[in-house]
Amino acid sequence: MITSALPYANGPIHIGHLAGAYLPADIYARYMRLKGKDVAFVCGSDEHGVPVTLRAKKEGIKPQQVVDKYHTINKKAFEDFGISFDMYHRTSDPLHHETASAFFKHLYDKGVFVEKESKQYYDEQEKQFLADRYIVGTCPKCGNENAYGDQCEKCGSTLSPEELKNPRSALSGNQPIKKKTKHWYLPLDKIQEEWLEEWIDSHKPKGNKQETEEWKTNVYGQCKSWLDQGLQPRAVTRDLNWGVPVPIDGADGKVLYVWFDAPIGYISATKALEGSEFRVHNSEFSWKDYWQNKDTKLLHFIGKDNIVFHCLIFPAMLKAHGDYILPENIPSNEFMNLEGDKISTSRNWAVWLHEYLEDFPNKEDVLRYCLISNMPENKDSEFTWKDFQEKNNSELVGILANFINRVVVLTHKYFDGVVPEGYEFNETLRLKIEQSTNVIDKHISSYQFRAALQEFMNIAREGNKYLTDAEPWKLEKGDPKIPQVLFDCIQVCGVLQKCMEIFLPFTSKKLATILKIEEPQLQNVAPGTQLGKPEHLFTRIEDKDIQKQIDKLQNSKKQNMEANSSIVNPQSEITFDDFMKMNIKVGTIKSAEKHPDADKLLKLEVDLGSETRTIVSGIAQHYQPENIVGTQVSVLTNLAPRKIRGIESQGMILMAENTDGKLAFVSPDKTVDSGSEIR
Ligand code: MF3
Ligand code: ZN
Repeated sequence: MITSALPYANGPIHIGHLAGAYLPADIYARYMRLKGKDVAFVCGSDEHGVPVTLRAKKEGIKPQQVVDKYHTINKKAFEDFGISFDMYHRTSDPLHHETASAFFKHLYDKGVFVEKESKQYYDEQEKQFLADRYIVGTCPKCGNENAYGDQCEKCGSTLSPEELKNPRSALSGNQPIKKKTKHWYLPLDKIQEEWLEEWIDSHKPKGNKQETEEWKTNVYGQCKSWLDQGLQPRAVTRDLNWGVPVPIDGADGKVLYVWFDAPIGYISATKALEGSEFRVHNSEFSWKDYWQNKDTKLLHFIGKDNIVFHCLIFPAMLKAHGDYILPENIPSNEFMNLEGDKISTSRNWAVWLHEYLEDFPNKEDVLRYCLISNMPENKDSEFTWKDFQEKNNSELVGILANFINRVVVLTHKYFDGVVPEGYEFNETLRLKIEQSTNVIDKHISSYQFRAALQEFMNIAREGNKYLTDAEPWKLEKGDPKIPQVLFDCIQVCGVLQKCMEIFLPFTSKKLATILKIEEPQLQNVAPGTQLGKPEHLFTRIEDKDIQKQIDKLQNSKKQNMEANSSIVNPQSEITFDDFMKMNIKVGTIKSAEKHPDADKLLKLEVDLGSETRTIVSGIAQHYQPENIVGTQVSVLTNLAPRKIRGIESQGMILMAENTDGKLAFVSPDKTVDSGSEIR
């Protein structure tokens, strides 16, 4: 039973989503199917929760309209990129409402919940309690002024509304009042003591990276730090009108907390398989086989911001219910950045899946390849368009497509495209390839998809090398080595075709057509097969196509800066006295050298007239040290000194930042005395 985090249906999907929770699950599901395992792979839209209602309010439409729109867009995006869900369901579906409702009722009847009255933030103007993202304020941990009631997106801390400083309503901006309300709580404190802590401890990574049950260190570490702080009872209901209604008397106007209902969406999606073509051939099929059978292996693929919900809260719910199995593993990825910056929907700093295909039609597998090879498995990773081009041109075109093309072309040239008959697969080569497929097996089974992909490419490299070393084109016509070599290479193509089914499914299909392989089965390409015409499986991507994408991103950066600078925020006004607190002077750079331990930093000696100061400045990528000696610059001199990478910096050089991120000194237009005041 494989699940991928249900994406909120409040916006489109970008590459970070794909690399985080969907591609890894897809590879795993495809691989297990190829091995003949009984796999159910489900996902769907997370359609409740405040992000959806806020979006609806912003666009002036109903929440249902928001989720209808994005459910359709996202379902299609996943299909377009070959994410092989057996079911893409949605949490506004009646089947889900019934399932989630019954789940809650079951726990309620068992007496699992604690009922509690408390005072919560309330917006009097909007007549609305302010839970989760309905309330914003200053993060107590990092000072971000726009932290949400459940989380600070800047520092990643999980928060509760009470922790926010200067809380305000996300609906009206008003200061909230406190009002009494009743909710049901999952007693995680008690559950921690009873079994949860022990269960998590039993998943402490032992360093056997090859074991499928071995949890990643980041996953275990996050859980552990929550447990060490002591879990608190967690409210699983909310005062909202969008969501699954709380199915008990006296709970009017209350719905299930979105993080209570959404993971149950995995179960609803599996139930929905019963009526789908997934199991027409199996009338015995029951969703319970996947959720309530001890032999079933349950896996949740997620991004790191979902760890606590999948490792602590959802298992607590499943166990409290009593009929369910617990997940064997929760392979969670870190985040993928884009061109040096965090991916952000609101800043339009993203590569959107639907837009990608407009610019690169039929290049789904190129993106898949690039995202897999950069998957943020153990740490945050980075997508750049240059790297995308490079991977396409030198690896997919230069190695993979090149090998297959050479083999098919030569087979046509020498044997009219017929696979030579009467030959055995060369034993040495066969063993090498088998070794590689074993390595791929190990890597995928232990969720190391980057390494698996690399090994897949090694098979193509091996084939290329074999063909190049054998040089059949140099042999006399009629030499029996020619059909032997081509037979061997065709078998390598057959193995590549099968592996591609996991990583590059679109290309796998194309190759299957050429090799006349009907079912993805683990066997040779039969002797005597008439191969199809050679076809370029991948084609080069030119500089201008890449430049277009880079320009597009620069454009969003520009638009953001314009939008930001046009906001006049009265709170950001300062007084003349505030201004006078800053002591800014003209300094002359006397010497400059690279910081010994940081390639972005320069260490400068700056003459300020009465004194010379050492200043560490992050300009090494913009200026060569030897070119700036003698330049006059603006220096903020009364900034508290700070150690930067081991060197005390006694001030700050002021820089002008261009929209493309380039930096320039702010210099007087004629030479002035060092130490001149700037006012
Ligand atoms: N919608 C959530 C997010 O995007 C994920 C929900 S996963 C589920 O972060 F388990 F709750 F379904
Ligand atoms: Zn913060």
